[in-house]
Amino acid sequence: MTPELTVAEQAALTSGSDAWHTTQVEAAGLPAITVTDGPHGVRLQADPRDMLRGQPATCFPPAVASASTWDPALLRRMGEALGDECRAMDVAVLLGPGINLKRSPLGGRNFEYFSEDPLLAGVLATEWVNGLQSRNVGASLKHFAVNNQETDRLRVSADVEMRTLREMYLRAFHRVITRARPWTVMCSYNKVNGVYASQHHWLLTQVLRDEWGYEGVVVSDWGAVADRVAAVAAGLDLTMPGPDPVGDQELIDAVADGSLDAGLLARNAGRVGALVRAAQSRTHGDYDQADHHALAREIAGRAIVLLKNDALQGSEQSLLPLDPDAAQSIAVIGEFARTPRYQGGGSSQITPTRLDDALTQITAAARGTVRFAVGYPAAGTPEPGAAADMDAARAEAVDLAAHSDVALVFAGSMHETEGADRDSIDLPEAHRKLIEAVAAVNPRTVVILSNGAVLSTSGWDAAVPALIEGWLLGQAGGSAIADVLFGRVNPSGRLAETIPLKLQDHPSYLDFPGEHGHVAYGEGLYVGYRGFDAREQAVAYPFGFGLSYTTFSYGQPAATATDAGIEVRVPVTNTGRRGGREVVQVYVSLPGSAVRRAPRELKAFASVPLAAGETADVTLFVERDDLAYWDTRLGRWVVEGGEYHCAVGASSRDLRGTAVAEVKGDDARVPLSTGSTLGEWLADPRGAQVLGQALAGTAADTGGPMAAVFNDPTMLLFLSAIPLGRMAAFPGSPLTPELIAELVAAANA
Ligand code: BGC
Repeated sequence: MTPELTVAEQAALTSGSDAWHTTQVEAAGLPAITVTDGPHGVRLQADPRDMLRGQPATCFPPAVASASTWDPALLRRMGEALGDECRAMDVAVLLGPGINLKRSPLGGRNFEYFSEDPLLAGVLATEWVNGLQSRNVGASLKHFAVNNQETDRLRVSADVEMRTLREMYLRAFHRVITRARPWTVMCSYNKVNGVYASQHHWLLTQVLRDEWGYEGVVVSDWGAVADRVAAVAAGLDLTMPGPDPVGDQELIDAVADGSLDAGLLARNAGRVGALVRAAQSRTHGDYDQADHHALAREIAGRAIVLLKNDALQGSEQSLLPLDPDAAQSIAVIGEFARTPRYQGGGSSQITPTRLDDALTQITAAARGTVRFAVGYPAAGTPEPGAAADMDAARAEAVDLAAHSDVALVFAGSMHETEGADRDSIDLPEAHRKLIEAVAAVNPRTVVILSNGAVLSTSGWDAAVPALIEGWLLGQAGGSAIADVLFGRVNPSGRLAETIPLKLQDHPSYLDFPGEHGHVAYGEGLYVGYRGFDAREQAVAYPFGFGLSYTTFSYGQPAATATDAGIEVRVPVTNTGRRGGREVVQVYVSLPGSAVRRAPRELKAFASVPLAAGETADVTLFVERDDLAYWDTRLGRWVVEGGEYHCAVGASSRDLRGTAVAEVKGDDARVPLSTGSTLGEWLADPRGAQVLGQALAGTAADTGGPMAAVFNDPTMLLFLSAIPLGRMAAFPGSPLTPELIAELVAAANA
């Protein structure tokens, strides 16, 4: 609370003073603090008129890449480095991380988000926030909530049922909020089930604060607030950007006429005041640009996913890694090798301190000759009439490839940006044709993709022996790609999202992005791999997948249930000749579960470094909370008792062994009522007992149809869906309203 503030000061404090500052309240000793984007670098605007150009800062790999490391410790180091840059630039709050699930591969902001899986997103983001805040710089966990598309993002209602909302779309937020306590949470633009997130009392107060115990500041996404009074009442503390004198006045008036509780405004302003005070604990810092560039390179190298590395014809050897000392001629093809795509568009765009391109780095690394051909024009679709240029560029590249020992083709998507979803997951035609033409003349072709969201590889990947998913890798991506190509880094990235064979296969396909202001989350719980697995569909590359230059074998896993969850242990051996990292994954299922579930769900993982020949006994922990489902009848989380199968492996579709643990369930009895069906009564031991006794007593007297119920299985099935209360209406029913009321009381006693 900040009682010394006047109502007018409180109102002013709950809106910004400009795009990137809170409002100073001198009387209360509260200076204005700076908040800025985020998430993969510090975008401190250099000139107020130029939204997109920032002061130079390290452009770390965007979340699409950093998530592919599956390494929370690395994300923590990235958070720490970002914190140091914020301290150097006097930034109090960095607007990130973005942890919305990648519901569809078309999502325009997928490059800014971590995964299609809430555990992976939550674990990684927790450490990112912990790292950042260890420097006394605040995070802003965004976008709360259910902001999974750009189409109509300022208005659309994400219509999602409660289990899906809790288990999929809120789960990662819960994890980060309860474990890392981000200083701020940013509410999203969209509506959630019909109500703007910025005005959503259930979301911002009941769930976030009352259930999860959040004490920090809820800040609006920029321009997300349509009604200041409703937003403050719902629990929104800080409206950005500012100033908003009209909204401030509305708050003052609402307090004056009693339509807004004065205590609410004082409380929200108090939270902003506390944030400003917390920010004052930050000391000025400095950072070394070269060190941070090196960290960006390390993360980028760890993020690259080796999708394919087939043995070459007539040899046991794969094409990669390339021998840097070999006197071979290398054709580097594709404009992206020279002009890297390293981040997406929109508010997260960083002005890098420097920028590595792959062409320069490959040239520096290789002893042999390196020649370059542009392959396709750099910018989007060619102008009309430019097809001839395109053909000429391709012909030149094909000629170079035909006269080189190895061809490295750089291809990918032309752009991904905040504000617009993609309309396809296909490679641009010019890129696909180039790959096919080069592969046709050079059997030693490697494709390196640059893209912020999944691209279909179907049709063309069969023609190339080696394929590298290079995502958007930040400012050091060029050197990281060279590190992987020449084996200085042994790839260990894993897919944090499924690559489908085609868009139409994707669980979200029929319902994305909705229309006329609504998007139905029709696939429900079956987001990403959960949906592919439930329908046993083939995919191009599964969730969790990624190759290495070495090989790993798994021993028999063992699982032990404890009060806190399930401990899973498995020996993993590096069976190859180089050191590498295996990402060990645990997928859990409960055969015979009483509720709908995906066939398997990621519940634990570990990134394990292993020297050649080394074996590690890897211990992973599945937390009991992560086994829970949201019971809509009870309105709470429930751990179902039973034998949980913990499948351990190298991807969601490469499971090497399963261990079973018996977990004791929560007490989750749903009280019986007149609305409970006969089937529900009979499935409940106490219900079946009291009902059985009651009917046994009456059946002989009445001889009505109920008498037969317990002895006739077909009859039972026929009647089982009828609520007990309705049975009183059937002629001859021994179940009178009075008797039913007695049964309800007895069953729940
Ligand atoms: C984006 C946020 C961002 C904010 C400030 C909004 O358009 O959705 O992610 O932090 O702008 O730039």
